This record gives sequence, C-alpha cells and structure tokens, in this order.
Amino acid sequence: MKPRDFQLDAYWMPFTANRQFKSAPRLFVAAKDMHYITDDGRRVLDGTSGLWCVNAGHCRPKIVEAVKKQVETMDYSPAFQMGHPGAFRVAERVAKLAPGDLDHVFYTNSGSEAVDTALKIALAYHRARGEGQRTVLVGRERGYHGAGFGGMSVGGMPANRKAFGNALSRVDHLGHTHYPGENAFSRGQPAWGAHLADELENRIIPLHDASNIAAVIVEPMAGSTGVLVPPKGYLERLRSICDKYGILLIFDEVITGFGRLGSAFAGNAVGVVPDMMTIAKGLTNGTVPMGAVIVRRGIYEAVIEAAPPNTVELFHGYTYSGHPLATAAAEASLELFEEEQLFERAQQLAPYFENAVHSLREMPHVIDIRNMGLVAGIELEARPGKAGERAFRAFLRCYEKGILIRTTGDIIALSPPLIISEQQIDELVDVIGDTLREIGRD
Ligand SMILES: Cc1ncc(COP(=O)(O)O)c(C=O)c1O
Repeated sequence: MKPRDFQLDAYWMPFTANRQFKSAPRLFVAAKDMHYITDDGRRVLDGTSGLWCVNAGHCRPKIVEAVKKQVETMDYSPAFQMGHPGAFRVAERVAKLAPGDLDHVFYTNSGSEAVDTALKIALAYHRARGEGQRTVLVGRERGYHGAGFGGMSVGGMPANRKAFGNALSRVDHLGHTHYPGENAFSRGQPAWGAHLADELENRIIPLHDASNIAAVIVEPMAGSTGVLVPPKGYLERLRSICDKYGILLIFDEVITGFGRLGSAFAGNAVGVVPDMMTIAKGLTNGTVPMGAVIVRRGIYEAVIEAAPPNTVELFHGYTYSGHPLATAAAEASLELFEEEQLFERAQQLAPYFENAVHSLREMPHVIDIRNMGLVAGIELEARPGKAGERAFRAFLRCYEKGILIRTTGDIIALSPPLIISEQQIDELVDVIGDTLREIGRD
C-alpha cells in the first residue's frame, strides 16, 4: 500500500462515527461494475449500490463517456432564465417513465433538496388555488427524507432531530408500519397492516382539520430506517384518504426509483400514483449529484397560472438545478437502464434474491428478514444496552471479508446494483452468513 499523502483530521465526515473511522480508515480508490477497490488493493463486492444509487453498477463506460464529453463541451449553464438542451431532454424522459400525469420535473442536486422542494411546491400549490391555510405537513415515524430542515422535520428518525430542536413547526407524523410481531419474515409486502393508514383519517385529520393539511410524505418503502416494506393495501389506503380530503400525497422515491423494486418507481410497482415524487440517487447512477421532483400536470399548471404573465412563477431553485454534467449523466443512465432492461432484470432476480436472503433465517441473532425487489433487511437482536453495535460489527467484518453492506441500528440493509449475478448474490449471502455465525459466538 502506498503511504498516504493526506491526513484524516480535517474532513468532518457525514453520518459517520468519525473517531472510529479515523482510528481504522476504510478507503475506496476505484470501482468497476460490481466491485470497489480499496487503498490496499482489495476487491469489495458492492452489496449496497454505494448508497442505494449505483443501480447500473460502477463506472459504466456509456455514462463516463457522456460526462467526459459534456465537460469538454459546456461545463456550466446558468439555471435561472437560461436553459440547455440536456435539461429538457432528461425532463421529458423522466416524465415518460413516471406513472399517470406526473409529467413536470423540477431539478435539485440531492434527495434532501428534492424533499424540501416538494414540500414548498405543495404549499405554493395550495396557495395558488386560494387554500393558503393548508400548511400542515405530515410525515411518518421512521421515515427518512434527507438532512435539510424540511426533510428532517417530516422525517421520523429521533437521532436525526434531537440535536436540532423543533425545525418546521406545523408538522405531524403518522405511526410507522414496522410490526415484526405480526409480520416477521414476510416475503414481499406483508399481509398485515393496511389499516395503519387509517390513522391519517382517525387522528391526524381530526387534530389539524383536513382543510389545514397540505401534504403527506412517505417513502413507499422506507430504506434508511431499515427496509420497512409497505403492508399490502397500505399505500392504496393513504391515497384514497388523501383524495377524499384534498391532501397531496408525496412519495419519496429517492431510494425506490429507477428499478430498485423491479419497475421504474415504487408507485408503478404497487399501482399507486402519488401527486409528487422526489427522486435522486439512481437518476444519474450516482455519477453526478442530482435530484428532482416530478409533479402532476395540474400542480404545475395551478402554480404557473396563478402568477401574472411573464413573471417568475415559483421563487425557488438552485444554482446547479439541471447542471449539464448531471443531465449528461442522467441521460446516459436512463438510456443504459433501458438498453439493458435493468428494471425488468431486477424483477426477474427478485425471487432468487428473496430465497437467498431468507436462507439466513436460522443464523444467530436474526429476528426478522424482509425484502421487496432487490432490497432486503436482516434485523438482528440488539445487544442489551448497546443498540447498533452488533450490526456495526457485522459491517466491519463483512468489509474485511470483501463485501460492502449497510447497517442502520441493528438492521443490515442490502440493495445491490441491478446487474448483480446469482453467483454474486450467493457470495453476498454466504459472507453475511459466515459473519453472523462468527459474531454469534462472541
Ligand atoms: C428516501 C430518501 N429521501 C431523501 C434522501 C436524501 O437524499 P440525499 O442524501 O441525496 O440528500 C435519502 C437518502 O438516503 C433517502 O433515502
């Protein structure tokens, strides 16, 4: 290994145990297809698509070439009052992939910004229609909607909020849908729990009055808090309650978009069309930061038409909205997904993946396994008084053994690139099995 030509101290790493990391750093220096290469030259099988984003695998030549060509041609184009062709082409392509009349696309640079943008659009939409009193935003416990103030507030992860006090004030949360007592070891969508959506009608609406509620935002499948698969009928029920009371339904598809669940979006997979979708990650195959909000035509039209002619209709946007490098990466990624039929591939591989992960059921400390598409959560029993420690040890050991997994609390989350082979699924599961046996002994 080459001696390092940098120190570790200056970089304050995000969502990372900085002291632990800096005492035993884990550094990637290259990546190709299903593997990372570490600074000491080891190959690590990517079981997490980086951070749920590299759906087509790493450093795919088509995407790399598109970004190279774009950076040589035009590095940047102003996002406000000017445009460039790539931004329009990608919007059109994304609109075609989205279900129903979700056919307008607002660009951001991340999932967090997409969530903040969707929440602001919800408020602007109601205001444009003369219902400016609709300002309550409803999230869900155990939801993750990024790290901005908006996303943090509607999110339901205590650790992400407790240091920062009350952020957005007019926010409430539905209960989560994770009930292992009823649904442990479910394959695909659990049978029990559609009625959990009724809390919107039975508690939240009476409390705030429906006429004050702007939007409900949920991840159709909650990823970051440990792969919480929506019970059958739950999302459908949320949809119908929102319809009944004129509340917008936002699906945060930052993780579930672009084939993860075997179709373009989770909404397509479960047959529920939201009013807005937030996307990011897989949109550019993780190559260049980019997010977006996809909105229904009626929302776009209401906001646009409420403004006087030839004036700015929505006072919102980012310097890098629709950045040329991001749109080049997105265009090439979307083409690649289609050429290689990767969403269909994920769907075809899902049963194999499901059987493989559920084979870990008898391993020490495993208390639940759940899956949908090419996502799985393996929940371990927490060590008394040391929540998260057991799974983190598994993560470190798996890394030593040459596979990358992700853990949240005591849950191992798997979300491999959609190009993974059956043999690589076996490798992933075998290494996790060996690891669980080893840590089960101590
Ligand atoms: C559902 C969901 N929303 C939003 C985000 C935030 O995305 P970003 O980290 O790009 O801001 C994430 C990130 O994992 C996510 O999973």
